[in-house]
Amino acid sequence: MHRKLERNDPCWCGSNKKYKHCHMQFDEKIRAFALEGHLVPDHGIIKTPEQIEGIRESGKINVAVLDYVAANIRAGMSTGEIDRMVEELTRQNGAIPAPLGYEGFPKSVCTSVNDQVCHGIPSDSDILKEGDIVNVDVSTIYRGYYSDSSRMFIIGQTTPEKEKLVRVAKECMEAGIREVKPWRFLGDMADAVNRHAKENGYSVVVDIGGHGVGLEFHEDPFVSYVAPKGTEMLMVPGMVFTIEPMINAGRADIYIDDENGWTVYTQDGKPSAQWEVTVAVTQDGCEVLVW
Ligand code: MF3
Ligand code: CO
Repeated sequence: MHRKLERNDPCWCGSNKKYKHCHMQFDEKIRAFALEGHLVPDHGIIKTPEQIEGIRESGKINVAVLDYVAANIRAGMSTGEIDRMVEELTRQNGAIPAPLGYEGFPKSVCTSVNDQVCHGIPSDSDILKEGDIVNVDVSTIYRGYYSDSSRMFIIGQTTPEKEKLVRVAKECMEAGIREVKPWRFLGDMADAVNRHAKENGYSVVVDIGGHGVGLEFHEDPFVSYVAPKGTEMLMVPGMVFTIEPMINAGRADIYIDDENGWTVYTQDGKPSAQWEVTVAVTQDGCEVLVW
């Protein structure tokens, strides 16, 4: 049996406050959106301040690992070496690389070069060369909390085309971050990302998106970067998710390598770029927890 939470009951969030002094109005506001037909978050994906602090701490390690990669990545290095750097530094910090063994993923980080869109598997036989653009996607588990972020690196000098793609992909992520506000929709964020990509003649990958994150690696909701304004889930304070649009220089179509079952490539062989942050929706906007 499931009784409706009454005004004087303890709040569901674990604050030990009475419901009426804690999340009652919050729930009523969400319910009004649901009645209008909008997709709304359930309590399970709303984080407490303590949980957000845990993700923030995990994120500090994630950022330190990416900073270390940034300082060391260079032409002639294999992506396998990047994997070892990531695993070593993560463990030195008392943390665990989240990708390792995740649904059978064999390495500690994803490295995706040029026309690889995401989920590239590091290898000692893949050597970075001058002009490559590479996404390094780092995810950390620290004291049970997950953080997730990625950056692009340009190896030496690249072409003006690839350089622009890397810059615009970052701007797309930033445009998305600016639209993360409570009581708006994930589609508002997606629309900002997609518009900036289109204005530059690029396309946004449809079939792979972002995700809630924090207590698990991949939580609800699925986060699209092509959805129209006013659609997708309502954003409310306490939601934590990634902004990680994959921007293709050519068409949005992709395929997965069927030899390894992981690496995603652009169908047309043109390059792709991606930057990723983890954000929390706050009372008046958003906080980038992991960059
Ligand atoms: N870090 C990736 C993401 O942003 C997750 C890759 S799953 C893995 O969602 F197993 F490949 F690591
Ligand atoms: Co992610």
